[in-house]
Amino acid sequence: MNLVASGLRRAYRSGAVSTEAIRNLDLEIEAGEFVAIVGVSGSGKTTLLNTLSGLDTQFEGTVRLGEHSLAELSESALARLRHRHIGFVFQDFCLLDHLSIAENVALPSYFGDLDVEPHKRATELLERVGLGDRLDALPTQLSGGQKQRVAIARALFCKPSIIFCDEPTGSLDRGTGLSIMQLFDELNRQEQLTLVVVTHEPHIADMAHRRIVIEDGEIIEDTAQTPEWPVTSDAGEARP
Ligand SMILES: Nc1ncnc2c1ncn2[C@@H]1O[C@H](COP(=O)(O)OP(=O)(O)OP(=O)(O)O)[C@@H](O)[C@H]1O
Ligand SMILES: [Mg+2]
Repeated sequence: MNLVASGLRRAYRSGAVSTEAIRNLDLEIEAGEFVAIVGVSGSGKTTLLNTLSGLDTQFEGTVRLGEHSLAELSESALARLRHRHIGFVFQDFCLLDHLSIAENVALPSYFGDLDVEPHKRATELLERVGLGDRLDALPTQLSGGQKQRVAIARALFCKPSIIFCDEPTGSLDRGTGLSIMQLFDELNRQEQLTLVVVTHEPHIADMAHRRIVIEDGEIIEDTAQTPEWPVTSDAGEARP
């Protein structure tokens, strides 16, 4: 599904103070793209991601995902759209520590009926991200990179067409961050998954196919790029 934002504005108001976090922004992301959104702290990256992904509807302008205009959907229709079509990955993983990683991955099955057997699908996805032998582990028994793989498997559970990631490598060391980006790259290539990755780390943005630079709530650069894969000893063999 294509994602199209036009005339997007988002201001945070508190009393007499108003902060314009996104200012009159236009953006189009086509199905199958792998996009990095970069910018300094406070430039509006998270706000942009939240408005594009239907987590935050307090915006002006329009955001369309496929045929759906997000602002026109009821709360329940928007929740359904997110559940069915959108995956999320965050910096701090957002796993439930008292559930096994297989149960964490299958969590979306509690929020709507899907045409899959939850444990079977969770198992397949954990195998896909290299954790097929740790199904019963608790998140607390895993490294940061492994936790993020679990979060990615969970984001894939409902076969989304687009995944939004807010600083997915922000809590990881450089090598582990690269291996997470390699996984995203595979998912993008093999499953035509659309990926929108917010990061403040330039070397992470280098691995996407398009770079959008945001400054003070506006896009100041939007360029297609050939992905650059740094070779690092702890990331194993970096992909060409
Ligand atoms: N809930 C909020 N209430 C008021 N102002 C906010 C709120 N969230 C963000 N802002 C402001 O909006 C602007 C953009 O914030 P945002 O979190 O989108 O930036 P960011 O680029 O994601 O930063 P970072 O790299 O630190 O995560 C900043 O000036 C911030 O202070
Ligand atoms: Mg942010």
